[in-house]
Amino acid sequence: MRKLKLSGLLIGLLLSIILVGCGTSESEGSEGEGGETYTVATDNNFVPFEFLDEETGEMTGFDMDLIRAIAEEAGFEVKIESMKFDGVVTGMQTAKYDIGIAGMTITDERAETIDFSEPYYDAGLMLAVQESNTEIKSEDDLAGKKVATRSGTTSETYLKDNHPDAEVVTFPGIVEAYMDLQDGRVDAVMYDVPNVQYYVANDSEGLKTVGDVLQGEQYGIAFPKDSELVEDVNEALQTLIDNGTYDDIYEEWFGERKYGTEAD
Ligand code: ARG
Repeated sequence: MRKLKLSGLLIGLLLSIILVGCGTSESEGSEGEGGETYTVATDNNFVPFEFLDEETGEMTGFDMDLIRAIAEEAGFEVKIESMKFDGVVTGMQTAKYDIGIAGMTITDERAETIDFSEPYYDAGLMLAVQESNTEIKSEDDLAGKKVATRSGTTSETYLKDNHPDAEVVTFPGIVEAYMDLQDGRVDAVMYDVPNVQYYVANDSEGLKTVGDVLQGEQYGIAFPKDSELVEDVNEALQTLIDNGTYDDIYEEWFGERKYGTEAD
């Protein structure tokens, strides 16, 4: 009797481990109905474009809403896979995934090995410092300072090209850079405007943004070179811009309507 009970318990335990295992796996399985399923590579933490919703265990953010809406419009399904940003870039170059969306700036260099959709978001770079910092008011004050950012991004390139006399410190994830800034181990962080603003306002204490927007940039959805999906995605994106869905999503994450379409 005792044995039976125990084995029942064991089976229950095993079952729940298996179930929990499925629920927390990194890829979320297919979404939507019908059509081909395409893999979508995204970054695992780039607020407010893609990050984990702790309650649902699903990736959320502007990019996630946009790619799901595009998939629905174009009639395909997506399987979201989150990883480090560099993995998204190389995942396109090696055609490991079908689509990449990760606040990725369209650059001439990347466009040699990756295809991009039409631009879907206007960004740029910005500096954050500690609130108490009175020395760094703009990028003109970076000489001799420790400036942190994420490796493999346009900020790293910008700093190396324009600020050879700053000490550039790179991290595989941007949150580590912000943490070091908060703790005073670096003097400033340079990164994408929307991320810096969002992080400073929502996720940090004692930080502020300084200076102007540096280097205008545009984000594009990425594809392996010569992907047949580019055209369909561009078409769907344009439809969503015209019918106000893009603005609905934009408003949800950025508090305004980019193209000024009517809200329903
Ligand atoms: N826009 C910059 C770039 O393309 C930074 C992108 C960072 N994106 C991310 N998901 N972490 O280099």
